[in-house]
Amino acid sequence: MYLLNPYALWPLPQQAMPIEVRGRRESDISDVRALMQRAYPPPHGPEAVWAESNLLAHLSVFPEGQFVAIGRDGEIIGSATSMRTSARQAMAGHTWSDITGKGQLTTHEAEGDVLYGVNIVVDPAHQGCGVARMLYKARFGLAQELGCRWIVAGARIPGYHEHAEAMSAPEYVGAVVHGSLFDPTLSKQLRMGFRVWGMLPGYAPDHETLDQAVLIIRPVRGAHAL
Ligand SMILES: CC(C)(COP(=O)(O)OP(=O)(O)OC[C@H]1O[C@@H](n2cnc3c(N)ncnc32)[C@H](O)[C@@H]1OP(=O)(O)O)[C@@H](O)C(=O)NCCC(=O)NCCS
Repeated sequence: MYLLNPYALWPLPQQAMPIEVRGRRESDISDVRALMQRAYPPPHGPEAVWAESNLLAHLSVFPEGQFVAIGRDGEIIGSATSMRTSARQAMAGHTWSDITGKGQLTTHEAEGDVLYGVNIVVDPAHQGCGVARMLYKARFGLAQELGCRWIVAGARIPGYHEHAEAMSAPEYVGAVVHGSLFDPTLSKQLRMGFRVWGMLPGYAPDHETLDQAVLIIRPVRGAHAL
Protein backbone atom coordinates (compact mmCIF):
# COMPACT_ATOMS: atom_id res chain seq x y z
CA MET A 1 0.00 0.00 0.00
CA TYR A 2 1.30 3.46 -0.85
CA LEU A 3 1.66 5.70 2.19
CA LEU A 4 1.65 9.48 1.84
CA ASN A 5 3.72 9.70 4.99
CA PRO A 6 6.64 7.24 4.81
CA TYR A 7 7.05 7.49 8.62
CA ALA A 8 3.38 6.78 9.33
CA LEU A 9 4.14 3.39 10.88
CA TRP A 10 6.48 4.90 13.45
CA PRO A 11 4.82 5.93 16.71
CA LEU A 12 4.39 9.69 16.91
CA PRO A 13 6.22 11.43 19.76
CA GLN A 14 4.01 11.84 22.82
CA GLN A 15 2.72 15.37 23.15
CA ALA A 16 3.56 16.58 26.67
CA MET A 17 0.53 18.06 28.42
CA PRO A 18 0.94 21.66 29.52
CA ILE A 19 1.04 22.37 33.26
CA GLU A 20 -2.43 23.46 34.34
CA VAL A 21 -4.08 24.83 37.46
CA ARG A 22 -7.58 23.72 38.40
CA GLY A 23 -9.83 23.56 41.45
CA ARG A 24 -8.93 20.91 44.01
CA ARG A 25 -11.22 17.88 44.24
CA GLU A 26 -11.84 15.32 46.96
CA SER A 27 -10.10 12.71 44.81
CA ASP A 28 -6.88 14.84 44.95
CA ILE A 29 -6.52 14.64 48.71
CA SER A 30 -4.10 11.73 49.00
CA ASP A 31 -1.89 13.20 46.24
CA VAL A 32 -1.88 16.61 47.98
CA ARG A 33 -0.81 14.91 51.22
CA ALA A 34 1.99 13.10 49.38
CA LEU A 35 3.07 16.42 47.85
CA MET A 36 3.20 18.03 51.31
CA GLN A 37 5.31 15.12 52.58
CA ARG A 38 7.82 15.73 49.77
CA ALA A 39 7.84 19.50 50.34
CA TYR A 40 8.14 19.36 54.13
CA PRO A 41 10.49 16.43 54.86
CA PRO A 42 11.75 15.73 58.42
CA PRO A 43 12.75 17.42 60.67
CA HIS A 44 9.44 19.14 59.80
CA GLY A 45 6.96 17.40 62.08
CA PRO A 46 3.82 15.50 61.00
CA GLU A 47 1.79 18.70 61.56
CA ALA A 48 3.36 20.07 58.34
CA VAL A 49 1.25 17.56 56.39
CA TRP A 50 -2.46 18.18 56.69
CA ALA A 51 -4.78 15.40 57.73
CA GLU A 52 -7.41 14.23 55.28
CA SER A 53 -10.03 15.84 57.56
CA ASN A 54 -8.37 19.27 57.13
CA LEU A 55 -8.36 18.99 53.36
CA LEU A 56 -11.98 17.85 53.35
CA ALA A 57 -12.91 20.80 55.57
CA HIS A 58 -11.29 23.22 53.10
CA LEU A 59 -13.42 21.83 50.29
CA SER A 60 -16.58 22.04 52.32
CA VAL A 61 -15.96 25.58 53.71
CA PHE A 62 -14.56 27.37 50.63
CA PRO A 63 -14.21 25.02 47.63
CA GLU A 64 -13.48 27.78 45.12
CA GLY A 65 -10.43 28.87 47.18
CA GLN A 66 -8.57 25.57 46.76
CA PHE A 67 -6.32 24.95 43.74
CA VAL A 68 -3.90 22.31 42.51
CA ALA A 69 -1.28 22.44 39.75
CA ILE A 70 -1.12 19.41 37.49
CA GLY A 71 2.21 18.48 35.91
CA ARG A 72 2.95 17.27 32.41
CA ASP A 73 2.44 13.65 33.42
CA GLY A 74 -0.88 14.36 35.11
CA GLU A 75 0.56 14.31 38.64
CA ILE A 76 -0.17 16.94 41.31
CA ILE A 77 2.88 19.21 41.61
CA GLY A 78 1.45 22.19 43.48
CA SER A 79 -1.32 23.21 45.80
CA ALA A 80 -2.69 26.52 47.09
CA THR A 81 -5.17 26.88 49.94
CA SER A 82 -7.06 30.12 50.63
CA MET A 83 -9.83 31.51 52.81
CA ARG A 84 -11.53 34.89 53.24
CA THR A 85 -11.19 37.16 56.24
CA SER A 86 -11.41 40.84 57.12
CA ALA A 87 -8.59 43.32 56.61
CA ARG A 88 -8.85 44.13 60.32
CA GLN A 89 -7.97 40.51 61.23
CA ALA A 90 -5.47 39.88 58.46
CA MET A 91 -3.43 43.06 58.79
CA ALA A 92 -3.04 42.88 62.58
CA GLY A 93 -0.64 40.56 64.38
CA HIS A 94 -1.81 36.92 64.32
CA THR A 95 -0.63 33.33 64.30
CA TRP A 96 -1.33 30.85 61.52
CA SER A 97 -3.36 28.71 63.85
CA ASP A 98 -5.56 31.57 65.08
CA ILE A 99 -6.34 33.06 61.70
CA THR A 100 -7.05 29.73 59.99
CA GLY A 101 -8.94 28.08 62.88
CA LYS A 102 -6.12 25.55 63.38
CA GLY A 103 -6.07 24.94 59.64
CA GLN A 104 -9.77 23.94 59.55
CA LEU A 105 -10.88 27.33 58.09
CA THR A 106 -13.61 27.68 60.72
CA THR A 107 -12.62 31.38 60.74
CA HIS A 108 -13.49 31.81 57.03
CA GLU A 109 -15.67 34.91 56.51
CA ALA A 110 -17.76 34.49 53.36
CA GLU A 111 -17.85 38.28 52.75
CA GLY A 112 -14.29 39.04 53.91
CA ASP A 113 -12.47 41.66 51.83
CA VAL A 114 -9.17 39.77 52.09
CA LEU A 115 -8.27 36.56 50.30
CA TYR A 116 -5.86 34.99 52.80
CA GLY A 117 -3.15 32.58 51.66
CA VAL A 118 -3.32 29.66 54.09
CA ASN A 119 -0.63 27.67 52.29
CA ILE A 120 1.08 27.36 48.94
CA VAL A 121 3.39 24.51 48.14
CA VAL A 122 5.21 23.29 45.03
CA ASP A 123 6.90 19.91 44.63
CA PRO A 124 10.66 20.42 45.24
CA ALA A 125 11.36 18.72 41.89
CA HIS A 126 9.31 21.39 40.10
CA GLN A 127 10.25 24.51 42.06
CA GLY A 128 11.67 27.46 40.17
CA CYS A 129 9.67 26.61 37.03
CA GLY A 130 6.81 29.08 37.42
CA VAL A 131 4.30 26.75 39.10
CA ALA A 132 3.75 29.09 42.08
CA ARG A 133 3.22 31.98 39.66
CA MET A 134 0.42 29.96 38.01
CA LEU A 135 -1.16 29.22 41.39
CA TYR A 136 -0.90 32.89 42.43
CA LYS A 137 -2.46 33.88 39.13
CA ALA A 138 -5.43 31.63 39.89
CA ARG A 139 -5.69 33.12 43.40
CA PHE A 140 -5.49 36.65 42.02
CA GLY A 141 -8.23 35.90 39.47
CA LEU A 142 -10.43 34.51 42.24
CA ALA A 143 -9.83 37.55 44.46
CA GLN A 144 -10.85 39.82 41.56
CA GLU A 145 -13.94 37.73 40.83
CA LEU A 146 -15.00 37.81 44.50
CA GLY A 147 -14.39 41.55 44.80
CA CYS A 148 -11.71 41.16 47.50
CA ARG A 149 -9.52 44.21 48.08
CA TRP A 150 -6.35 42.45 49.22
CA ILE A 151 -4.44 39.22 49.06
CA VAL A 152 -2.61 38.71 52.35
CA ALA A 153 -0.43 35.90 53.70
CA GLY A 154 2.08 35.05 56.38
CA ALA A 155 5.23 34.32 54.36
CA ARG A 156 7.70 31.78 55.69
CA ILE A 157 11.37 32.79 55.81
CA PRO A 158 13.03 29.35 55.64
CA GLY A 159 16.48 30.84 55.02
CA TYR A 160 16.46 32.75 58.30
CA HIS A 161 17.94 29.99 60.50
CA GLU A 162 21.18 30.22 58.50
CA HIS A 163 21.57 33.90 59.45
CA ALA A 164 19.92 34.02 62.87
CA GLU A 165 23.22 34.30 64.75
CA ALA A 166 24.25 37.31 62.71
CA MET A 167 21.00 39.27 62.51
CA SER A 168 17.48 39.64 63.84
CA ALA A 169 14.51 38.46 61.76
CA PRO A 170 13.52 42.04 60.76
CA GLU A 171 17.13 42.68 59.66
CA TYR A 172 17.06 39.47 57.62
CA VAL A 173 13.77 40.47 55.98
CA GLY A 174 15.21 43.91 55.20
CA ALA A 175 18.16 42.27 53.46
CA VAL A 176 15.82 40.00 51.45
CA VAL A 177 13.66 42.96 50.43
CA HIS A 178 16.74 44.90 49.30
CA GLY A 179 17.98 41.85 47.39
CA SER A 180 21.26 41.33 49.26
CA LEU A 181 19.97 37.96 50.56
CA PHE A 182 17.79 35.40 48.75
CA ASP A 183 15.14 33.60 50.76
CA PRO A 184 13.72 30.44 49.11
CA THR A 185 10.16 31.53 49.88
CA LEU A 186 9.94 35.26 50.62
CA SER A 187 12.10 36.30 47.64
CA LYS A 188 9.77 34.40 45.30
CA GLN A 189 6.66 35.93 46.88
CA LEU A 190 8.09 39.43 46.49
CA ARG A 191 8.45 38.64 42.77
CA MET A 192 4.67 38.08 42.77
CA GLY A 193 4.08 41.73 43.65
CA PHE A 194 3.68 41.30 47.40
CA ARG A 195 4.98 43.97 49.77
CA VAL A 196 6.08 43.50 53.37
CA TRP A 197 3.55 44.89 55.88
CA GLY A 198 5.22 43.72 59.11
CA MET A 199 6.65 40.81 61.09
CA LEU A 200 4.61 37.94 62.55
CA PRO A 201 6.72 36.52 65.41
CA GLY A 202 5.53 33.13 66.69
CA TYR A 203 3.46 32.61 63.50
CA ALA A 204 3.89 28.83 63.37
CA PRO A 205 6.35 26.31 64.84
CA ASP A 206 9.06 25.88 62.19
CA HIS A 207 12.74 25.00 62.68
CA GLU A 208 13.76 26.83 59.48
CA THR A 209 12.04 30.12 60.18
CA LEU A 210 12.53 29.97 63.95
CA ASP A 211 8.74 30.46 64.10
CA GLN A 212 8.94 33.83 62.34
CA ALA A 213 6.88 34.92 59.35
CA VAL A 214 6.35 38.10 57.40
CA LEU A 215 2.96 39.65 56.76
CA ILE A 216 2.81 40.23 53.02
CA ILE A 217 0.04 42.06 51.17
CA ARG A 218 -0.92 42.72 47.58
CA PRO A 219 -3.78 44.97 46.47
CA VAL A 220 -6.29 43.45 44.06
CA ARG A 221 -8.12 46.44 42.59
CA GLY A 222 -6.08 48.46 40.18
CA ALA A 223 -3.14 46.04 40.46
CA HIS A 224 -1.65 44.57 37.30
CA ALA A 225 -2.60 40.93 36.69
CA LEU A 226 0.03 38.28 37.35
C1 LIG B 1 7.50 29.21 47.81
C2 LIG B 1 7.18 28.23 46.67
C3 LIG B 1 5.69 27.90 46.72
C4 LIG B 1 7.52 28.92 45.31
O1 LIG B 1 7.21 28.02 44.27
P1 LIG B 1 7.98 27.97 42.87
O2 LIG B 1 7.15 27.19 41.92
O3 LIG B 1 9.38 27.56 43.09
O4 LIG B 1 7.95 29.51 42.43
P2 LIG B 1 8.09 30.04 40.93
O5 LIG B 1 8.94 29.12 40.14
O6 LIG B 1 6.71 30.33 40.40
O7 LIG B 1 8.89 31.37 41.14
C5 LIG B 1 8.31 32.54 41.64
C6 LIG B 1 9.23 33.70 41.28
O8 LIG B 1 10.46 33.55 41.96
C7 LIG B 1 11.53 33.51 41.02
N1 LIG B 1 12.47 32.46 41.41
C8 LIG B 1 12.20 31.15 41.54
N2 LIG B 1 13.31 30.49 41.91
C9 LIG B 1 14.30 31.42 42.01
C10 LIG B 1 15.67 31.36 42.35
N3 LIG B 1 16.25 30.21 42.71
N4 LIG B 1 16.37 32.52 42.35
C11 LIG B 1 15.79 33.69 42.03
N5 LIG B 1 14.48 33.81 41.68
C12 LIG B 1 13.75 32.68 41.69
C13 LIG B 1 10.92 33.14 39.71
O9 LIG B 1 11.70 33.64 38.62
C14 LIG B 1 9.55 33.75 39.79
O10 LIG B 1 9.54 35.11 39.42
P3 LIG B 1 9.16 35.51 37.89
O11 LIG B 1 7.91 34.74 37.54
O12 LIG B 1 8.95 36.98 37.95
O13 LIG B 1 10.32 35.09 37.04
C15 LIG B 1 8.04 26.95 46.77
O14 LIG B 1 9.40 27.32 46.86
C16 LIG B 1 7.68 26.05 47.95
O15 LIG B 1 6.79 25.21 47.86
N6 LIG B 1 8.41 26.18 49.08
C17 LIG B 1 8.19 25.32 50.25
C18 LIG B 1 6.89 25.59 50.94
C19 LIG B 1 6.72 27.04 51.34
O16 LIG B 1 7.59 27.65 51.96
N7 LIG B 1 5.55 27.60 50.99
C20 LIG B 1 5.22 28.98 51.29
C21 LIG B 1 4.40 29.04 52.52
S1 LIG B 1 4.32 30.75 53.03
